[in-house]
Amino acid sequence: MTALRRILVTGGAGFIGSALVRHLVLEFGAEVLVVDRLTYAGDRRSLSACEGRPGFAFLEADVADLDAMRRAMEEFRPQAVAHLAAESHVDRSIAGAAPFIHTNIVGTFAMLEAARAYRDGLDAGDRDAFRFLHVSTDEVFGSLPEEGAFDEATRYDPRSPYSASKAASDHLARAWFHTYGLPVLVTNCSNNYGPFHFPEKLIPLVLLNALEGKPLPVYGDGGNVRDWLFVEDHVRALVTVLARGVPGATYCIGGRSERRNLQVVEQICDVLDRLRPAARPRRKLITFVPDRPGHDRRYAIDPSRIERELGWHARETFETGLERTVRWYLDNEWWWRPLREQRYAGERLGLPATGTSAARAVA
Ligand SMILES: NC(=O)c1ccc[n+]([C@@H]2O[C@H](COP(=O)([O-])OP(=O)(O)OC[C@H]3O[C@@H](n4cnc5c(N)ncnc54)[C@H](O)[C@@H]3O)[C@@H](O)[C@H]2O)c1
Repeated sequence: MTALRRILVTGGAGFIGSALVRHLVLEFGAEVLVVDRLTYAGDRRSLSACEGRPGFAFLEADVADLDAMRRAMEEFRPQAVAHLAAESHVDRSIAGAAPFIHTNIVGTFAMLEAARAYRDGLDAGDRDAFRFLHVSTDEVFGSLPEEGAFDEATRYDPRSPYSASKAASDHLARAWFHTYGLPVLVTNCSNNYGPFHFPEKLIPLVLLNALEGKPLPVYGDGGNVRDWLFVEDHVRALVTVLARGVPGATYCIGGRSERRNLQVVEQICDVLDRLRPAARPRRKLITFVPDRPGHDRRYAIDPSRIERELGWHARETFETGLERTVRWYLDNEWWWRPLREQRYAGERLGLPATGTSAARAVA
């Protein structure tokens, strides 16, 4: 990959973080310290392939705990930090924003401060080589009309508590580059999908409901458009940015795979019907439910910069990536069954808390 062999990954027990850690440890033999608080979205079983490998370590801690982050960096002595820990689900941010403010904003501040103090203590060569990768989302850019795509120059216009908290964290990351010279790289990517995806997000939720013959909820008219990125393509992009990205730069990452939500749901039904036939077509399970408040209509990423400057390209089409995803869920019930039974059974999220209960949650 690169000269970077010791990497601290926050949020490494989550969906994208665990894919990144598996890639770094299993493909590159890198030494990795995972820092993760193990919230409802984190699962160490997603890292079981890495457990026991030389150089793999796990620290259960809160990224907003500045002292703990300082100690982790001093002891592990990373050459790079990949910061993925976040509260990541828009619907949960609507029901209660407090954890999003804590982890996404305060947590990013603590990671930047800990990295700055640690890097300042390195000798000149190591200081120059150090990198801080801040992983963010296209949702910071708001909603698109029928045409056009987000790129690195797009104005920020976040609409949900989740995207507003991620926007705040992006601004902090860039400020630490400009003000303190921390070699920060920022990536904004589109919707990911793939193995080990917590079954609250559209694709795994629909897939598992369809497998169990339950209703398939589609928000509004199903016309909202997302630009889908297979998680392993995303991980290769992150490694590329870490290795060759220019400090201070932003890279938009997307799979050039726009689909309407209803199309996604129908395609999942069709792949499942082919791989695991049921008595009646699973499209019959589709149920339209009231829309998410403030639901952004369309996201799309123009990934020309990372393609042109760093030579990264998505390898999977939506069809090939979806087929791999469905097959993975069919083969890995050991992973998703306990999550469905113990953590989240598929109930509707994203109904706003009242003002007073939301304020109490912040306090
Ligand atoms: N999933 C997507 O489609 C997508 C798209 C764009 C950007 N992103 C960004 O990528 C990153 C990873 O997303 P994901 O989908 O893997 O998220 P995820 O929800 O699957 O995982 C988040 C991980 O962070 C951990 N975490 C949460 N709060 C923490 C805290 N205070 N301290 C330490 N660890 C904590 C959780 O335990 C979990 O393991 C996030 O920053 C997210 O905003 C995700």
